[in-house]
Amino acid sequence: MNARDDLDAAVGSKRPTANSVRRVGKRWRNIFTVPSIITDVCEIFKMRMRKKRNGNARIQACSDYLIENGEEIDRMREEGLLPCRLEIGCGKGDFAVATSKKHLDEPYIAMEMISDVILCGLEKARAANCPNLKFIIGNAKDLPNYFQKGDIRVIYLNFSDPWPKKGYAKRRLTHRGFLEIYKSILTKDGKICFKTDNAGFFEFSLEEFEQSGFELSELTRNLHESEYAKDNIETEYERRFSSMGFPIHRVVATLKQNLPAGV
Ligand SMILES: C[S@@+](CC[C@H](N)C(=O)[O-])C[C@H]1O[C@@H](n2cnc3c(N)ncnc32)[C@H](O)[C@@H]1O
Repeated sequence: MNARDDLDAAVGSKRPTANSVRRVGKRWRNIFTVPSIITDVCEIFKMRMRKKRNGNARIQACSDYLIENGEEIDRMREEGLLPCRLEIGCGKGDFAVATSKKHLDEPYIAMEMISDVILCGLEKARAANCPNLKFIIGNAKDLPNYFQKGDIRVIYLNFSDPWPKKGYAKRRLTHRGFLEIYKSILTKDGKICFKTDNAGFFEFSLEEFEQSGFELSELTRNLHESEYAKDNIETEYERRFSSMGFPIHRVVATLKQNLPAGV
């Protein structure tokens, strides 16, 4: 097993062996303290989430807040509304509503692949009257169908699914495969703001960011006790995990302007 396999294993590790702890080393030792059973429970909860009654009709009632194709993004580009902020995996939209309100002078686009989940965000945005907020029902892998290089200034990844099982690393939204997609739509000094409760997933992501040509800043393994706490906007998952006593990890990854060849 090499260091990368160790990191993959650590994202979902429940019972570390003494050998695996030694291999990962002192820097990553705390990653084994996360009870990944909690993330497993969340996965099961999501899979079992009841279908919303009249879901499609309710989504259509919020159609002013929906972006349904790349042509709408083309129009925004022509109107000088890009680059803008993008959240991927926005869940029920609390962070999107609050962050778009904080930055009323620019568009904020929130993407989520489960329509019954995004419906909550759409209805919250309509109730809160967010003129600069739009939603895309879709998968991050399809971002290039909507956006071009330079369209996005900041990407928010909040409590992305850690995909703890071995062999599923490519599904993590901070896997280098996804980072290449983000690079293809970010401005040349674009940023990714990443938060998670899962320490193993966090360490995995730091490695992926660095390997993919991002510079790390504002790194904290206890956001709520850090100097960045005062500007923090909590998400639904963040409230749940921090109320259970788990520290929140956060980092800002900024695209290096002069990437070495091959990165
Ligand atoms: C653990 S939840 C976190 C929700 C919210 N960001 C929060 O912090 O409360 C992760 C969300 O990301 C969405 N998601 C996962 N993979 C995605 C992908 N490839 N594209 C779009 N959304 C995705 C899931 O459907 C889920 O709603």
